[in-house]
Amino acid sequence: MNILVINGPNLNLLGERKKEIYGIYSLEKINREIKKRFKGISFKFFQSNHEGIIIDLLHKYRRWADWLIINPGAHAHYSYAIRDAIEASGLKALEVHLSDIDKREPFRKKSVIKEVCKKQIKGKGFVSYIEAVKFCLSYEKNNSSTR
Ligand code: DQA
Repeated sequence: MNILVINGPNLNLLGERKKEIYGIYSLEKINREIKKRFKGISFKFFQSNHEGIIIDLLHKYRRWADWLIINPGAHAHYSYAIRDAIEASGLKALEVHLSDIDKREPFRKKSVIKEVCKKQIKGKGFVSYIEAVKFCLSYEKNNSSTR
């Protein structure tokens, strides 16, 4: 299984940015942890602060990946362009957030990405990413053809 993991704006500052909300792990540490726990899966990890770059990555890797795990950062709340790119990619997608966006400022409650994702996983810190990979595995197990 191939999984494309994309992190959006400001997530390169994990580990120093609002630790009380986002935790103490850097993004590199989170990515290392994911790779370590799921050795049989091929991952490509990207982070960008630019909407257009995220869209280009979705286009570029749409045929390579079986799944997309995306933490769009604040783009989750307003980027119809990323929403459309996820849909156009045809990828099975999961939206991930470290924090519980429903329990923070009102503008964070809305996700425009949610409806093009199989699931939104939030509020568990870096474990949100681990749960996302577990979801991919169990989805594939339950939906694999018996032929
Ligand atoms: C976030 C939540 C977003 O509202 C915020 O803009 C982020 C991080 C999260 O992982 O909790 O950058 O996506």
